[in-house]
Amino acid sequence: MKNQPSVVLNNGVEMPLLGLGLFRITNENGGFSQCIHDALEEGYRFFDTAEYYENEKDLGEALASSGLHREEYFVTTKLTNDNIKLHDTRNAFFRQLERLKMDYIDLYLIHWPVKGYEQAWVEMEKLYEEKRIRAIGISNGEEGHLNRLWECSGIVPAVDQVEMHPYKAQLKLRKICAERGIVAEAYGPFMQGELLSDSLIGEIARKYHKSPAQIILRWFFQQKIPVIPKTVTRERMMQNRNAMDFVLEEVDMEILHSLNKEQGSFPSPYEVI
Ligand SMILES: NC(=O)c1ccc[n+]([C@@H]2O[C@H](COP(=O)([O-])OP(=O)(O)OC[C@H]3O[C@@H](n4cnc5c(N)ncnc54)[C@H](OP(=O)(O)O)[C@@H]3O)[C@@H](O)[C@H]2O)c1
Repeated sequence: MKNQPSVVLNNGVEMPLLGLGLFRITNENGGFSQCIHDALEEGYRFFDTAEYYENEKDLGEALASSGLHREEYFVTTKLTNDNIKLHDTRNAFFRQLERLKMDYIDLYLIHWPVKGYEQAWVEMEKLYEEKRIRAIGISNGEEGHLNRLWECSGIVPAVDQVEMHPYKAQLKLRKICAERGIVAEAYGPFMQGELLSDSLIGEIARKYHKSPAQIILRWFFQQKIPVIPKTVTRERMMQNRNAMDFVLEEVDMEILHSLNKEQGSFPSPYEVI
């Protein structure tokens, strides 16, 4: 993927630093096809979906008709909790491929480590070995889950996608991931918008003549953390991408680090059963 700042995963696969999050966007509620069209025009080549988001089919159609070659975009999708619990990983994966009109997935994640996730992981490993998935990982994995996968698996997860933003910096988990060669990826970077009214972030935004969203995204990029903000607004897609193009001084990075209280808005994975 040319011109996309990226990180290299533990198996050599390149993953762009900025993707578009697609939770709560469907053609029924918000012009999904237009959203993908706008994102592609704004240079986005990385899309984060899940079976649970009910937009895989629309994403597949939009990408298939985009004129891009398959290797020009990066798609993450996730195995739902129900399919994990039903031990239906392999069938679920092929249904997802069909909906997405693809013959492989770039990054396939366990959506939540619910009961049965270790068995799901073994099935995902097979799909990886069969080259149907370029990289496998987990979402909402905490230290205990990473330990379990570590014990029962031949393949170290490439990614742990977790809620992360200046109020929940995930310092402990990031350290564990770094030690094991797992990339910690951030979801919910704006806390669904709530963080954008933080007064200190607002002050930094005024100093750089940027928006609060750009300051938050820059905080991620400077730490080389992949991030997937959701927006259906073309102007915001552009704004979010332009957060690649400036540098925060260390003193402002420190202010952003100081906001951390390790508190977010999503449930603990131990509450999701
Ligand atoms: N693995 C998991 O369990 C999990 C859980 C949650 C989310 N995710 C992934 O992470 C993605 C992002 O998280 P999220 O959807 O929870 O929320 P988010 O990205 O933290 O926030 C999205 C909100 O911010 C607004 N926004 C985006 N850019 C903006 C800008 N430049 N200025 C002002 N407002 C802006 C959006 O508004 P508009 O859309 O109206 O522009 C929307 O209301 C999801 O879409 C999904 O792909 C994964």
